[in-house]
Amino acid sequence: MTARDVVVATHYPVFDRALLFTRLSPRRELVVAGPVPAGLDPDGMYITPEEDTRSVRTAPYGEDGTRRLLVITGEHFTPGTGDTRARFDRLAAWARRHFPDVELTHRWATQDNDPTDTVPLVGPLHPGAKHTYVATGFGGWGMSGGMMAGRLLTAQITGEECAWSGLYDPRRLAPAVREAPSFLKHQAQVAKHFVGDRLRPSPPVEALPPGEGAVVRAGGGRLAVYRDEDGTLHAVSPRCTHMGCLVDFNSAERAWECPCHGSRFDTDGKVIQGPATQPLERRHL
Ligand SMILES: Cc1cc2nc3c(=O)[nH]c(=O)nc-3n(C[C@H](O)[C@H](O)[C@H](O)COP(=O)(O)OP(=O)(O)OC[C@H]3O[C@@H](n4cnc5c(N)ncnc54)[C@H](O)[C@@H]3O)c2cc1C
Ligand code: FES
Repeated sequence: MTARDVVVATHYPVFDRALLFTRLSPRRELVVAGPVPAGLDPDGMYITPEEDTRSVRTAPYGEDGTRRLLVITGEHFTPGTGDTRARFDRLAAWARRHFPDVELTHRWATQDNDPTDTVPLVGPLHPGAKHTYVATGFGGWGMSGGMMAGRLLTAQITGEECAWSGLYDPRRLAPAVREAPSFLKHQAQVAKHFVGDRLRPSPPVEALPPGEGAVVRAGGGRLAVYRDEDGTLHAVSPRCTHMGCLVDFNSAERAWECPCHGSRFDTDGKVIQGPATQPLERRHL
C-alpha cells in the first residue's frame, strides 16, 4: 500500500525517528465495570478532583444495548512498577463503596503517554518530515484530543491555515526551557530503573506460585520467569528489546512490563505494546 501522506496514530509511534520516547512517560490506568440495576444509573460523567483520580460514567450494554454498564477508571501508575492486584482491589473497593448495588463483572487496563510539557504531540513527525505526521501523547485525554488532532492534521495535509499548529507541533522548541524540569525528571526515572532494577533482590524460582512471574538469578545472569497454571516455567530475557531496561511482572494482567517507556510483552515475550518492536529473547532454565 502506498500513500502520499501518512499519519502515525498508533498510540506510541510504531516508528520513532524523532525519538519521541524521550518526551513521553507511559501511564497505565485500571478500569472496573458492571451492569447498573434499573433506576440506579448515575446519569452523567463524573471525575474526582483528588490526586488519585477516579472517573465514573455509564455506557450502553447488553445484546440490544438497552441496559447500562457502569465504568469506573482510576489508579494510574507507571507500567512495570508496584502491585497491580492491590490497585485493582483498591479501585473495586471504591466502586463498591459508592455503588453498593452494582456487581463488578469486568475489569481491564489501558495505557497512554504523558508528554513532558503536558501538550499532545500532533503534526509533522520530525524536522525533515514532509508527508509523515504523528498524533500522540494525549495523557489519558485522547477522546477529546483525538478530535483536535483529526482537525489539525486534516488542515495540514490539505494545506489550510490552522492557528494552533505551533502549539501542538512535535518539533516545537520554544517550550524546551519550560519542559526541561519534567524532561530531566523523566530521564532520571529511566536511569533509576536502568540501574536500580538490576540491583533488585530476586526470589528463587521454586518459590514462584502458578500464575506468577519474577526476574530471578540463574546461571550468573537474570531471567524473567513465569510459572503457568500447569506449573510449566516460561523463561525469557528480562532485558527490554527497546533500550535494555529490565522488565517486571504485572501479575494482575500476566504480562511483562518495562518501566522506562512502557513496552509490554506476553508471558512468552511477544510484544503486546511498543515502543519495543522485537520480542523478549526466549531462554532455557
Ligand atoms: C475507560 C476509558 C475512559 C476514557 N475516558 C476518556 C474521556 O472521558 N475523555 C478523553 O479525552 N479520553 C478518555 N480516555 C482516553 C482515550 O481513550 C485515549 O487517550 C485515546 O484512546 C488515545 O488515543 P490514541 O489514538 O493515542 O491511541 P489508541 O486509541 O490506543 O489508538 C491506537 C491505534 O493504533 C493501532 N495500532 C497500534 N499498533 C499498531 C501497528 N503496529 N500497526 C497498525 N496499527 C496499530 C491500535 O490498534 C489502535 O487502534 C479514556 C480511556 C479509557 C480506557
Ligand atoms: S520501553 Fe524503552 S527500554 Fe523498555
